[in-house]
Parts: sequence; C-alpha cells; structure tokens
Amino acid sequence: MKINTIGVLTSGGDAPGMNAAVRAVVRSALDRGLKVKGILRGYNGLIDDEITDLNIRSVSDIIHRGGTVLYTARSPRFREEEGMQTAMQTCQRQGIDGIVCIGGDGTFRGARDLSLHGIPCVGVPGTIDNDIASTEYSIGFDTAVNTCMEMVDRLRDTAQSHDRCTVVEVMGRGAGYLALHSGVACGATAVVVPEIKIDVEEDIIGKIMRAKKTGKKHFIVVVAEGVGGVDMLAGRIQTETGIDTRATVLGHVQRGGSPSVRDRVTASKMGYEAVQLLAQGIGNRVVAEKDGKIVDYDIYEALNMEKAFDEKLYRIANAINN
Ligand code: F6P
Repeated sequence: MKINTIGVLTSGGDAPGMNAAVRAVVRSALDRGLKVKGILRGYNGLIDDEITDLNIRSVSDIIHRGGTVLYTARSPRFREEEGMQTAMQTCQRQGIDGIVCIGGDGTFRGARDLSLHGIPCVGVPGTIDNDIASTEYSIGFDTAVNTCMEMVDRLRDTAQSHDRCTVVEVMGRGAGYLALHSGVACGATAVVVPEIKIDVEEDIIGKIMRAKKTGKKHFIVVVAEGVGGVDMLAGRIQTETGIDTRATVLGHVQRGGSPSVRDRVTASKMGYEAVQLLAQGIGNRVVAEKDGKIVDYDIYEALNMEKAFDEKLYRIANAINN
C-alpha cells in the first residue's frame, strides 16, 4: 500500500514525552516526504473530524512540554461499529493512509481495530503506568517516577520533623511499577503493590515496629492506587504503632511536568521508528523497548503478552529499606 499522508494521535491518559513523540513522528514523516495530519482528542478526532495539517514548525517548542498538544481522550464511541465507520470515512475524506497512535493498551486496541478495517496503524507506548506488557518501557514513566520521588522527598521532610509516618498513594492503575520504583528511590519502609500479596500486620506494622526499635523515628509507606485504602491504612498504623500518621494521595500532579531526558530520547526514537514502519505500508504493529533497543511487534501478539513484575527489585526494596 502506498502511503502519502499519515495521521498522528495521542489517546488515553496524557504522559510527559507524548509531545516529543508527536514531534518525532511529524519531523520523521516530513523527512520521508510524507504529509502529516494531527488528529485531535484521540480517536474522537476521527469521529468528529477534528483534524489539522501539521508542518515542520507546528511541532516547534514542544519537546520540553508536558501534556499533549494534540489533546487526548478515552473514546467509548470508537469502540462501537458506528464510531469506527465514521472514523474510516474521515480517514478517506482527509486522505489519511496510516496513523501513529500514541498511548497505552487501550490505544493499541483502537489501532488494531483500525488496522483491521484497512488503515494501517502503529502504536507507540505512552503511559506513566509502564504497564504495557509488550514493552519494558513506556514514555512518561521516568518523568512520573521522578515527580513521585520529589513529592515523597517533601513528605519525608515533614514526616522527619514531626516523627511521623507518611502513607502515600501513587498512580499506576492496576500496576505497581510507579509505586515500586518510587518506593526504592525514596527509601520507603514499605511498598504496597497489587502484584504482591502482603500481610499488613507482618509486612507493614511489624516492619515499622522493628525499625522503630533500631531508632528509626519517621517512616514512609508507598501504596499503589491499585491497592488504595491509604486513609484506612494510615489509621491502622497510627492505632497499632502509636506513631502519628498522615495519608496523602499524590493524584494528577504525577501526570504533568516537563519530560525527563529518558522520556524525550525514548519518545524521539520510538516516534521515528513508527514512521519508518508506516512509510513502508507496514501497519498493525507496536513499537517497544526490549533490552534497551527499539523493536516492534504485531499488535495482536503485543496485546496478548504478559508483563512480569520485577520481583527482584521488590526483594531489594525490602532488604535495604528498613
Ligand atoms: O493511565 C494513567 C493514569 O494516570 C492512571 O495511573 C490512573 O489510574 C488514570 O490514568 C487516571 O485517569 P483519569 O485522568 O481519567 O482520572
């Protein structure tokens, strides 16, 4: 299939580095002599015909910006056949021959369905959750972990000043990667993730009490949102240990901010690779990172992969944070 014009969209939760990926897609496509169109607000843009022409200057001054200049959305309408048909008509009318879809697994499912209907799509992983099975790394994770680290460091200051325990919930949807990495980076006494079953009495209360006996006076417990319940946990810690305890939910602050080097560089590489595939008429693929290299997989294969939790890092956290 001859590709003349490609579209680019961001879908699902925004992630720092999405703009760097959009920029890479636009510049790489122009470099290959393709035309590029920006599809606004995820798959909704295809249904509502919110499409804009992009040129080399359209993506100036965005590499360092958080969020996504293309806006984003989750689109239930696109999952209906009627929405898909409207999207297909928009592609035909706009002359869009292929699309780079930046987002998480939900975005990849949309890309798979569009590919099936005849528009080749390539997925680029972008989510702070780093929960996409097909890739070791997704754009936005590093920035988000750094934000969590900075925020928990601040909580540590006040916890230390008051001899308190701070229980902090970080995002991650059903996955504990953000919690695990921030817990390690912040030296949290306990990290609670959905992937590992724990005994609160032994693994949190007991651990705090044992550390207290060695002279430790302030404590950090990082909890993944997939486990939740930070208010209740904080109450229980306070009652059972006698340590004044506060709960904090970090929330959407984790999604914003200027992307880190890791996110800008990865986004640039992945955006470039996605265009190289599409330019050859190759669709129904996702770009991924494996052993530090950029690879690509069939979307069906990618969506059926399973992500192994980093149990070794979890063990390390337990061994050294006490
Ligand atoms: O997928 C990214 C994410 O921030 C998750 O960590 C979180 O569960 C969800 O999106 C929040 O979604 P919303 O922005 O719609 O509240």
